Amino acid sequence: MSLKLSVVGTGYLGATHAACMASLGFEVIGVDVDHAKIEMLAQGKVPFYEPDLEDLLAEQIKSGRLKFSKDFKDIADCDVHFICVGTPQVKDGIAADLTYVNSALETIAPLVKAGSLVVGKSTVPVGTAARLRDRLIAVNPKADLAWNPEFLREGFAVEDTLRPNRLVVGTTNDQAEATLKEVYAKNLADGIPWIRADLPTSELVKVAANSFLATKISFINAMAEICEAAGGDVTVLAKAIGYDPRIGSKFLQAGIGFGGGCLPKDIRAFMARAEELGAQQALEFLKEIDSINLRARQRIIELVRKDLSDDLKGKKIAILGAAFKPDSDDVRDSPALDIAAQIQAAGALVTVHDPKAIANAQKRFPALNFADNVEKTLQDAELVLHLTEWKIYRELDPAKMKSLVKNAIMIDGRNALDRTAWRNAGWKFRALGRADEMAK
Ligand code: UGA
Repeated sequence: MSLKLSVVGTGYLGATHAACMASLGFEVIGVDVDHAKIEMLAQGKVPFYEPDLEDLLAEQIKSGRLKFSKDFKDIADCDVHFICVGTPQVKDGIAADLTYVNSALETIAPLVKAGSLVVGKSTVPVGTAARLRDRLIAVNPKADLAWNPEFLREGFAVEDTLRPNRLVVGTTNDQAEATLKEVYAKNLADGIPWIRADLPTSELVKVAANSFLATKISFINAMAEICEAAGGDVTVLAKAIGYDPRIGSKFLQAGIGFGGGCLPKDIRAFMARAEELGAQQALEFLKEIDSINLRARQRIIELVRKDLSDDLKGKKIAILGAAFKPDSDDVRDSPALDIAAQIQAAGALVTVHDPKAIANAQKRFPALNFADNVEKTLQDAELVLHLTEWKIYRELDPAKMKSLVKNAIMIDGRNALDRTAWRNAGWKFRALGRADEMAK
């Protein structure tokens, strides 16, 4: 008989995991303490924007395999329980807030049946899994806990869940591994690499991967600073080094840097945990990665200041993009919104556009102005900032856009627009890391 699965926590990770597991043929039940979220999901509606997820979710609910419940007791007869709750940054420091993970475990530990497996997917500081496993076994001696970190990217969540590039399973128990091999049988048949590790290594794989990605982005942004100082072009440099397969061309897009609910808080939580372990020196470099990243936001504000004679008061500035990256409505630690808020705080009149993230952005920064189309956003603007590289912005007609603005100055914070086309249409075009485009 096929395994019955539960998913605890139905945010970006949990809702996607639940729908994808149901699409593989498993019976799945999703639970969450957020009842509004559960009500939406139960009706086949996704409370956030994630391409392909809503169709998959609706289809799986219709099939009868996928259910959502407000009552945690409904998970009792499941064989495997995936913990998919968030681990945000604590309010008063850089460590991870484990409130949700701890309370998920406390809630389900007495409910799960003998022989069932609890599987952590949340990103946690190393050592958490062993602590949670001890606690689970103390309450429920016949259950076990394994760790199975998730590597999905927002915007590609369904694709990454159904076709991951590797599966990492932290357990020393052969039976637990066999159960997870049953869950991921299709991936295994497709030849996806399977890595069994101990609990601490499996937790570390995730934060190491995110730290590496953050490092790659900050590396190229550091090169952007050098290019600006030395008269180079970081986009050409990135292309050239990327051809070396040991380096690779991905994650070398210079610009305003990384944001979102993962990379920034994960590198900070990793540093906090290393300090607790007495190994802080090993991760000192991540402090610099964080600083380079935050500096990129200041560097673009400097460009704006130079172009507006250092006086932002009353200047009308149009901002294209609010989400932390395209194909997402997530504005957590969004570089675009941070820059918008800082420019507004300096006295400018900022109008922000985003195809999907306006509602979330408005909740976070109600004082900013938002427009629901690009034309309204650019109307009479004295400067335009391109801060999230949505496809629709790359498809804009620069000549048409020029007819809307007061000053045709475009600053491309993502090095993603076709500068020749914008220049040919009469725009003054600027971008980070490209010396010939710095404000003179
Ligand atoms: C990241 C990881 O890529 C996933 O593998 C991981 O599972 C996830 O965190 C997580 O921990 O849950 P995500 O936060 O969705 O995924 O976003 P990324 O695609 O990694 O982008 C992060 C940020 O870096 C974005 O703000 C993006 O604009 C920026 N970025 C990315 C750059 O500035 N330059 C690049 O070259 C690439």
